[in-house]
Amino acid sequence: MTAPKIAVLPDRVADQIAAGEVVERPASVVKELVENALDADAHTIRVEIEDGGRSLIRASDDGHGMSPDDARLALQRHATSKIRSVADLIGVGSFGFRGEALPAIASVSRFELETADGAGGGIRLRVTGGTIEGADPAVRQQGTTVTVRGLFFNTPARRKFLRAPATETRAVSEVLTVLALARPDVAFSLTSDNRSLLDAPAAERLIERIHALWGRDLADTLLPLATRVGGAEVSGFAQRPSQARPAGRKAYVFVRGRPVKDPFLLRAAEAGYRSAIAPRDRPSLLLFLDLPGDAVDVNVHPAKAEVRFRDRIQIEQLVEAGVRRALAPLDAAAPIGTGGGAGPVLEAATWEGTGTIPAGLPTELFAAETPGGRPRGPELLQVFDTYLLFQTEDGVAIVDQHSAHERVLYEQVMRQLTGDGAPAQRLLLPLTLEFTGPELEAIDAHRELLARVGFELEPFSGRTVVVHTAPNPHPRFEAARCLQELVGDLAGGRFGGWANRLERFGATFACRAAIKAGHHLDPEEARELVRRLLAATLPAHDVHGRPTIVQLPKGELERRFGR
Ligand SMILES: Nc1ncnc2c1ncn2[C@@H]1O[C@H](COP(=O)(O)OP(=O)(O)OP(=O)(O)O)[C@@H](O)[C@H]1O
Ligand SMILES: [Mg+2]
Repeated sequence: MTAPKIAVLPDRVADQIAAGEVVERPASVVKELVENALDADAHTIRVEIEDGGRSLIRASDDGHGMSPDDARLALQRHATSKIRSVADLIGVGSFGFRGEALPAIASVSRFELETADGAGGGIRLRVTGGTIEGADPAVRQQGTTVTVRGLFFNTPARRKFLRAPATETRAVSEVLTVLALARPDVAFSLTSDNRSLLDAPAAERLIERIHALWGRDLADTLLPLATRVGGAEVSGFAQRPSQARPAGRKAYVFVRGRPVKDPFLLRAAEAGYRSAIAPRDRPSLLLFLDLPGDAVDVNVHPAKAEVRFRDRIQIEQLVEAGVRRALAPLDAAAPIGTGGGAGPVLEAATWEGTGTIPAGLPTELFAAETPGGRPRGPELLQVFDTYLLFQTEDGVAIVDQHSAHERVLYEQVMRQLTGDGAPAQRLLLPLTLEFTGPELEAIDAHRELLARVGFELEPFSGRTVVVHTAPNPHPRFEAARCLQELVGDLAGGRFGGWANRLERFGATFACRAAIKAGHHLDPEEARELVRRLLAATLPAHDVHGRPTIVQLPKGELERRFGR
């Protein structure tokens, strides 16, 4: 008889293996403890760490606590108060549901759990490497404090993987930041070696929490976002395109209140910025998705960092549309004021349905009809032959004529490129222009698109091309110069960051064909330009991510004049 080769692992070994998945580093311990505190309805959560969490991690909460019996149970594998059956997993609202975190953490540390549920006396349990070593009565207020010392003391291989204390501290701070964003109504604090790293009082609104975490400078660059389609809703904030930078952005996704890593949803959100942002800039994004519990599976990742959507495409479309809507209103234009600061922070409004022009956008301001022969809308003033000024409901709007025309032309040209093409004028005297070798290649590659925007070209001889027709986007349009600049850009890959070839071409054409700064506009032209800008889908941003309009709030004028 041979001895059996298969044996069921003792609980302690199983716990340590589970710990490998759930407890990677101090930050994962903090995540599990704080999630438990939130699940226990805590109002205030304090976290302390020492030495990056190597020597000490402590999380205290004022939640509902546990009875002594429950506290002992909580340390057993698969012991949870949060679900009773697999069916409960559908739409589970608590962070926890696996009943694994506490035993896993306790199996790889010197662990202490102190808790009181307000009904009877509290208890303090001491556990070393998974073995309960002592239980004492504890006198304390309702709530729970978990202390974790010597993390990975009994798994030296894991301990070796810990990074420098500063790195671990940063990861802990990030975990707490994410959960603080998920629950603005709960107060959070973090101290590291007795230094305060985060202190966020309970807030009523997400934007106040953002202030507390990152300061006003970032908060002021964010536009509120809120769109619902069917049972799914996305809300949160998207950064104003002109204030996005290539590095250092904040990007967070929450699904049914749970923080998740989802690069695809972030990419969908970035797609919403299409044509309104410089290709290298990465906007800050805070996306909160709310959808029915059965539309998402939260049990697909041991640390719950990912979820699976029943219909991912629908969710990605919702996010893209939500961002696009957030950028559409004139409020998305850059404000002028103290330090580029916005006025009062806008409450996110929810738009039902799919109307393209949100309420509040004064498209009527410069309506084409003229009642009684007099133009409608406020007076327009052109200054420096470059900017157009007019009064709005709550301030003064300043339009950059080139950026504005670029946006208008871009949207028009995208319709032409995908539709019937642009009306072109046959030139009485065809132009002949010379190009370089790479430019001729670019013309060849884009001949069809050039024709659609109105340039009909024919190779002549050598480096010479004959231009038979040209578009006529405005009276001061110089066809030869525009074509030369356009072809130069195409050959030089100037808009290279744009993923889509049509959009890249459209943006290049719009930029080169638009009216330039320094051109005088007569009043009718100026009105027409502003009217068309306000009717555009994304009126507030040009194709490089710069603002087309800045607004000087009336309140700012009043402040400066001491009214
Ligand atoms: N801070 C706390 N306050 C009150 N009860 C707690 C606290 N922490 C843990 N518990 C109780 O202990 C149980 C076990 O916690 P544990 O984190 O191990 O599992 P879980 O939260 O149920 O699931 P998961 O492993 O997914 O986190 C919880 O279900 C809860 O009842
Ligand atoms: Mg838990």
